[in-house]
Amino acid sequence: MEPSKEFVFKYKGFYFGVNTSVEHVASLENFEIKDSDIFIATYPKSGTVWTQNILSLILHEGHRNGTEDMELMDRIPWLEYNIKNIDFTSLPVPRAFATHLPYYLLPRDLRNKKGRIIYVTRNPKDVLVSYYHFSKFIITLEEVPDFNIFMERFLAGKVLASSWFDHVAGWYGHVEDFNILFLTYEDMKKDLRSAVLKICNFLGKKLSEEEIESVVRQATFENMKKDPRANYENLPDDIADKNKGRFLRKGTVGDWKNMMTVAQSERFDEVLNEKIKTLPIKITWDMN
Ligand code: A3P
Repeated sequence: MEPSKEFVFKYKGFYFGVNTSVEHVASLENFEIKDSDIFIATYPKSGTVWTQNILSLILHEGHRNGTEDMELMDRIPWLEYNIKNIDFTSLPVPRAFATHLPYYLLPRDLRNKKGRIIYVTRNPKDVLVSYYHFSKFIITLEEVPDFNIFMERFLAGKVLASSWFDHVAGWYGHVEDFNILFLTYEDMKKDLRSAVLKICNFLGKKLSEEEIESVVRQATFENMKKDPRANYENLPDDIADKNKGRFLRKGTVGDWKNMMTVAQSERFDEVLNEKIKTLPIKITWDMN
């Protein structure tokens, strides 16, 4: 079943939500990149908001300059969903953006190794479950109440951001073209401090021990959950129905086991397992 046109449109083979336009998305290919630009790229539900928060804390040394008073979305805006009409050219440097774009739709300059990209992946079964819950509370996403149907759509890439596999394979397959750091949600969960250090190294940003501690402390699930400016709680009412969920839902590894039946898990494996083996990633996901 095709996703409803009320909620998505297709541009160059990729499904976008209706909070953007073909003109804006098309214009991004020529968007001029500065060497200092940083992008967080993900498939939805892979830990984008978490990484946005970590990056923002690193760039501002754990909030030394009042950035805690700003919404995360203003500190690190969405590239293709510029719902607040931010003038990207006037953002202070280093500019940082979040995006779900596939590698081939990113600003062309990035492919010449201008700027930096942090790409985060997550066990696709957890992505699926997180996405299913997310669709219920985000008004601009099509709600598919039957989990089986939602899973089939996800596996067929008929959801916003299209196929999980194509997204991940595309990014990992073009590692040579970009200045890119790959992280996984699971590694971040296992050792947040190491993930913070990896990002600092990648950016050439030196933080003191105290600043690193402060970043790690503020980026835990529990602390982000308390901070409405860091957890997207202030999303406009016409985008999120806060009675139906939260961006920060459970924040755990392996929640798919609480949701998927054995049959669903096997069906998922049947479609994706062989493909996943072709990815040039050391998989640490528990798929069984
Ligand atoms: P769950 O729905 O499994 O809880 P994205 O930001 O890409 O939409 O991803 C959202 C997922 O990241 C949600 O997963 C959310 O709870 C999780 N998340 C956000 N902040 C987190 C944090 N600090 N620690 C762990 N998980 C976090």
